[in-house]
Amino acid sequence: MSEPCFIVRRLGNPDADAFRLIRLESLQQNPNDFGSTFEKESNEPSASFVERFDRSTVFGCFVRERLMGIVGFFPLEGPKRSHIGVLWGMYVRPEARGTGLAAALVESLIEAGRERVEQIQLTVVASNARARRFYQRMNFSEYGLEKKALKYNGAYFDEVLMVRFLN
Ligand SMILES: CC(C)(COP(=O)(O)OP(=O)(O)OC[C@H]1O[C@@H](n2cnc3c(N)ncnc32)[C@H](O)[C@@H]1OP(=O)(O)O)[C@@H](O)C(=O)NCCC(=O)NCCS
Repeated sequence: MSEPCFIVRRLGNPDADAFRLIRLESLQQNPNDFGSTFEKESNEPSASFVERFDRSTVFGCFVRERLMGIVGFFPLEGPKRSHIGVLWGMYVRPEARGTGLAAALVESLIEAGRERVEQIQLTVVASNARARRFYQRMNFSEYGLEKKALKYNGAYFDEVLMVRFLN
């Protein structure tokens, strides 16, 4: 059997510069598909990207040592919410889409999430048909719609709420 041509692993401090680059690319290339903005994050110090590795588990997928995709995970806090994890920041560089790399990232996140939470939630902008289809294929179910969840440059965006139960 041939070896997979990409490697998924948890990102750490030495990956901060590469993470910052791909995160800013995601916000610049897909400004309507994320809750944050390029304008905000490009003005943040490099240290703020390192801090995310403390607050979240961030996975990266590498092809020949180049970071081609990212996804983040954190568990909610509080005595009644800590069984829920949140998936955020999913992005795959255009040239790596449709290759299975995105699925490998989410599978790594799910495996790690199983040890800490019972379900994983995410939100996706309703008009992002490709991402919705992708998450459905990864066994996430749509369970709600937040109308006008985001407002950017005067335009409103609805968000679909999705969940995958792990047990
Ligand atoms: C969302 C993303 C991570 C998915 O990765 P990907 O490699 O593109 O995903 P895949 O190719 O494995 O799966 C996409 C699915 O959508 C389908 N698809 C492609 N274009 C589509 C479209 N315009 N409408 C509906 N479905 C579409 C594909 O056929 C595939 O479904 P299938 O497996 O049933 O054939 C990637 O597209 C991406 O980074 N997009 C930009 C950032 C983004 O939207 N992030 C999500 C924020 S919530």
